[in-house]
Amino acid sequence: MIRSFPSKAFAALFSLVIFSGCNQKEPSPQISDKKWWKEAVVYQIYPRSFKDSDGDGIGDLNGIISKLDYIKSLGIDVVWLNPIYSSPNDDNGYDVSDYRNIMKDFGDMKNFDSLVKGMHERGIKLVMDLVVNHSSDEHEWFKQSRSSRTNPYRDYYHWWNAERGKPAYRYSLFDINHDAWRYDSLTNAYYLHYFSPKQPDLNWENPRLRKEVYDIMKFWADKGIDGFRLDAFQFAAKDTSFPEFPKGLENNFQLYYAMGPHLHDYLKEMNSEVFSRYDVMSVAEGAGNSFDDAHNLVDADRKELDMAYAFDGVGIATPQGYSLLHFKDVFSRWDSAFAVKGWLSIFLSNHDQARMVSRFGNDSPAFRDLSAKMLATFVLTMRGTPYYYNGDELGMTNAGFKTITDFRDMPTLNEYRHQKDIHGDTVKYLERVKAESRDNGRTPFQWDTTKNAGFTTGTPWIAVNPNYKAINADLEEKDQNSCLNYFRKMVKLRKDNPVLVYGKYTLLDKGNPKVYAYLREEGEKKMLVVLNFSTETARVETGISAMNTKLLIANYPESPVSKTGDDIFELRPYEARIYQLK
Ligand code: GLC
Repeated sequence: MIRSFPSKAFAALFSLVIFSGCNQKEPSPQISDKKWWKEAVVYQIYPRSFKDSDGDGIGDLNGIISKLDYIKSLGIDVVWLNPIYSSPNDDNGYDVSDYRNIMKDFGDMKNFDSLVKGMHERGIKLVMDLVVNHSSDEHEWFKQSRSSRTNPYRDYYHWWNAERGKPAYRYSLFDINHDAWRYDSLTNAYYLHYFSPKQPDLNWENPRLRKEVYDIMKFWADKGIDGFRLDAFQFAAKDTSFPEFPKGLENNFQLYYAMGPHLHDYLKEMNSEVFSRYDVMSVAEGAGNSFDDAHNLVDADRKELDMAYAFDGVGIATPQGYSLLHFKDVFSRWDSAFAVKGWLSIFLSNHDQARMVSRFGNDSPAFRDLSAKMLATFVLTMRGTPYYYNGDELGMTNAGFKTITDFRDMPTLNEYRHQKDIHGDTVKYLERVKAESRDNGRTPFQWDTTKNAGFTTGTPWIAVNPNYKAINADLEEKDQNSCLNYFRKMVKLRKDNPVLVYGKYTLLDKGNPKVYAYLREEGEKKMLVVLNFSTETARVETGISAMNTKLLIANYPESPVSKTGDDIFELRPYEARIYQLK
């Protein structure tokens, strides 16, 4: 999603969640129930920007294959690959025109098979993006569907015949005019597209469509993939009578779009048809509008999905910054709501967000490296499955784009045109996207100091960040204290200490506005994590005697400043430390 859940609605939501509550009284075996996908660290690869093998300026599967040893060296267990299916690329592959084929820019099925083999030989699992809230308008289904009102594929999509008048307004996230109904004169009808007009929404009420999707999933599962990330799936179920929604829907579309009728039936069916028949993990983008919604998606006894992927945490940062108290509050509430049942994903970035260090850390030369390491410490010590977006392990930063022509992202460009059309403030808009556009996270992976950061020998499809001569994998490889090597150490620490996966989480010094401190504990094993999220030296009262701690890892190469009191720790700017309790 490019838009996170608006914070006002989010705040209102909390009260609702707290009162409606989720039943935590009954002890359940599920939280400690061991699963490979709970213990995994997921590394997300944006194939278009990872590594180009043939000089066309676009990353590809052979490029990823050439970097498998690097990927393995990170210590991660799972790769989540953004869509690689045939696509006209209106939305960089999130508009699929053939679900059983590979996008030409990325290679072919042979390359795919080699990729899976290469990953499996190295003990790495592969999770694929499944984009079935919508297809491309160039998919054969849609071509058939729009050809006549009586075509057998007509009901694969949502059509509204024009003689009924205009359907009730639906907000489109990507359409230039934000109108999700597009009129098609061929059959005198409107079709629905929550995203761009080239991404018509599929009709999940149609059992034939659902069966097609399950067959597609089995096709990939039979090829040996290890999981699915269901793109925008919380929007898949719709009230197909299309009632009026309240005015202002666009400010809160998630409330009306997510968790529509029968969504759980579809997921249960998908689970029994596909997930239950393979050893695959499943995660959907978004987790509904409340903790209850999230639980209903992922509690193991419901047999739907494995883990929730909620946006409340990642949505906190704004170009003006964010409050650490808010950040701690959100992550702590999510953890406590899932302390007994269900399972969460932990992430601070993905392909729809600006760079993690620019949003949540500090990308100035003085603090970039330290704050990137501090954020790695956070993501890799929380309960839940950590997702790390490619390039974040190097501390890659926002793109530094200057003009609108630097951007490639369709919704970013469409909104610019929209602002022009309505005589909006395009200068202000440009400032906003410089900080927020998801293109910031899509610049080519910075491999080395050679031309185009070693990403391509051709012209990259989107500009390389000019800071690649200082920030790249090759340099960081050689530096024991680099972000990259810190990330590797952190992954190893998590793998060696299941307490960091399953252990209970307790927030310490809750009201501290600069330091995030928490305890993770499982049986005798206890770990203390202290993270300074500020540019200043800060103190934290942990209530834990320093005498009883042993330092396991820290992001400053020099040994920590001496402890100032029995249970008071002083942390340098963006300092991160993990202690084991003796
Ligand atoms: C999801 C994807 C995003 C895409 C959108 C439409 O939010 O993460 O990248 O643009 O769905 O498919």
